[in-house]
Amino acid sequence: MKVGRITLSDRAYTGVYEDRSGPEIERVIEEIFVDPIEFVRVLLPDEEHHLVEALCRLADRDDCALAVTTGGTGPAPRDVTPEATRRVLQKELPGFGEIMRARSYARVPTAILSRATAGIRGRCLIINLPGRPSAVQECLSLLGPAIAECLDHIR
Ligand code: MTE
Repeated sequence: MKVGRITLSDRAYTGVYEDRSGPEIERVIEEIFVDPIEFVRVLLPDEEHHLVEALCRLADRDDCALAVTTGGTGPAPRDVTPEATRRVLQKELPGFGEIMRARSYARVPTAILSRATAGIRGRCLIINLPGRPSAVQECLSLLGPAIAECLDHIR
């Protein structure tokens, strides 16, 4: 199975700090799935058109079953991940974002600041996650059964 993982971060992109969230996506995905996974790794600045292009490439050309983004889901002016994601989705699956916010809220009240969404483009499930490595772990580890079921429907 091919999985795209995209980190959206101006600071990681320019080398101000190391991207720890992208590797965390890989770690959690490898915990969830027993099948061997080939990762396609992407690091981008917070620019809507870059993310639109990357998501289309992962879904349409690379035939990724899953594309997971991290970062850019908040309220800041340069947080544009959900807008770019909605531009490429053919079907939105709002339950993914809803459960991440609901389940994180008890421990992290700022979880409601994430506007993360998810949905389908072709044969690819696209999921947004918040940017912190701890948020990647907390949110992605909730989603295993729904991801597996969704892939059964679209692959
Ligand atoms: N969700 C979890 N589980 N853990 C977190 O630390 N951080 C929140 C929220 N969701 C957080 C979380 C914060 S502070 C913000 S601003 C938003 O995610 C958006 O983060 P992003 O812009 O890095 O995607």
